[in-house]
Amino acid sequence: MRVIRAKDYEELSDIAARIIAAQIILKPNAVLGLATGSTPIGTYQGLIRRFKDGKISFSNVRTANLDEYKGLRADHDQSYAYFMRDNLFDHVDIKPENTNIPNGMAENDAKECERYDCVVKELGGVDLQLLGIGKNGHIGFNEPADAFQNGTYCVKLTDSTIQANARFFASADEVPKYAFSMGCGTILAAKSVLLVASGKDKADAIYKTIHGPITPQVPASILQFHPDATIVADEEALSLC
Ligand code: GLP
Repeated sequence: MRVIRAKDYEELSDIAARIIAAQIILKPNAVLGLATGSTPIGTYQGLIRRFKDGKISFSNVRTANLDEYKGLRADHDQSYAYFMRDNLFDHVDIKPENTNIPNGMAENDAKECERYDCVVKELGGVDLQLLGIGKNGHIGFNEPADAFQNGTYCVKLTDSTIQANARFFASADEVPKYAFSMGCGTILAAKSVLLVASGKDKADAIYKTIHGPITPQVPASILQFHPDATIVADEEALSLC
């Protein structure tokens, strides 16, 4: 696992955007696995800037997002579909039909998980998977559990995640209790993985991800197995390392 220490959020966002831009330049039809949360926003801004400067084009890029809240429509302003349009897709030349995200309104959970696994398979797998990390070490919505999940599944969110994400909703009660998420198996199958982390809140999770035992209780620790995983984190997130 490669660890890149950035001095602050701005620098980490720039480094992450540079890594993703390089992937797009090397392979213009790359499959990007994308993440939500506040941390990747600066990375997306860096990509938008490079697009506007004419350095990269998303016209052939394909994407598969990690996760989506169950029960939120794609036009709900807290859905991850909305987040992606707002923070990246609406500002670059990506084709909407080349973007993929689990359908939070699917009626049948099992079928939706199966459908999404097929989507990723038909894309030929993910070239570069961007990840944030939860305070409890979750990636996507793979919460601490007794076992790692392989493919897409419907997961019950932990109280800690609901509380952490409540800041985006009117109250914690409004945060969906379930989500669809790619499993750790799919994440691990990406050709390369890029995890971004910022702030003291993430220091414990980052320490355990890098130095702790590989355990489903800290889902991100599975990245120790990945042959091409990079963590770009700021001083605060790396303060326990
Ligand atoms: C959500 C997302 C994760 C993200 C996490 C941390 O739970 N499902 O993919 O990594 O939030 O978000 P933030 O970057 O806002 O701390």
